[in-house]
Amino acid sequence: MILKDRVAIVTAAGSGIGRGGAEIMGREGAIVIATDLIAERAEETARRIRDAGGRADACQLDVTKDAEIERLVEQTAKAHGRIDILHNHAGIQVEGTLEQVPASGLDSSYAINVRAHFVAAKAALPHMKRQGKGVIINTSSNSGVFFDKGMLAYITSKTAVIAMTKQMALDYGPHNIRVNALCPGWVDTPFNDPYMRQMGGRGALEAYVKDKIPMGRWASVDEIAESILYLASDRSSYMTGHALVIDGGECIA
Ligand SMILES: NC(=O)c1ccc[n+]([C@@H]2O[C@H](COP(=O)([O-])OP(=O)(O)OC[C@H]3O[C@@H](n4cnc5c(N)ncnc54)[C@H](O)[C@@H]3O)[C@@H](O)[C@H]2O)c1
Repeated sequence: MILKDRVAIVTAAGSGIGRGGAEIMGREGAIVIATDLIAERAEETARRIRDAGGRADACQLDVTKDAEIERLVEQTAKAHGRIDILHNHAGIQVEGTLEQVPASGLDSSYAINVRAHFVAAKAALPHMKRQGKGVIINTSSNSGVFFDKGMLAYITSKTAVIAMTKQMALDYGPHNIRVNALCPGWVDTPFNDPYMRQMGGRGALEAYVKDKIPMGRWASVDEIAESILYLASDRSSYMTGHALVIDGGECIA
């Protein structure tokens, strides 16, 4: 088990990629604190980890609430004595061009996609510094490494996640705290449901993915979870400030 007894906090762990990452870390021996806006989803993730023989707690957490993040981090440090891994995963997609996105859409994109990662990392940092070791994974997207029509708020905020990740990595490398960005492409989760409805249903989206992605298909959650495990574990022990793109080649097409 490559994460035996490591304490891992995951935001938005109640579905999709967040759940997949939480589960694979649980399978590899981590004590997982699965958090989500929806309490039942976080509980379901924790239950799945425990049913598979792992250790996990669940906690309702809205990442737009600074005090909730700070409380969760302090409670975790108190209960388990340390925080080894922080996976900041929560994010939203606000579509549109400059004319279509209201300023509030840019604000909410930054609040969840960027600011929440900042607040959680800031809260976990003293514990990681004290330990002399820590791993922070900030979910961005392959939308953080290229540009896409009509995605102003998403692209801008996901690019900011990568810039923030690199800056954190630079500042805290001397403390042995590694900070990397996770940049998935199309992953088959409920995250894409609004886009699917907008395109006219599952068939239209499938055709789009087949055509647009060099590998001609979605990623599975399990494929992205492997990358989360890599970033979270000592397998990536000399990697920091990196934006790990897992997108079937979309960003080079
Ligand atoms: N699925 C993809 O194709 C894809 C691709 C690239 C990047 N991403 C990124 O992955 C993240 C989520 O994707 P997913 O596929 O796991 O989504 P998902 O829809 O499967 O799960 C999202 C989870 O986030 C939770 N959530 C929403 N708002 C929250 C908040 N304020 N606080 C805490 N939790 C909240 C929801 O309750 C839900 O459980 C986002 O950051 C997104 O940008 C996804």
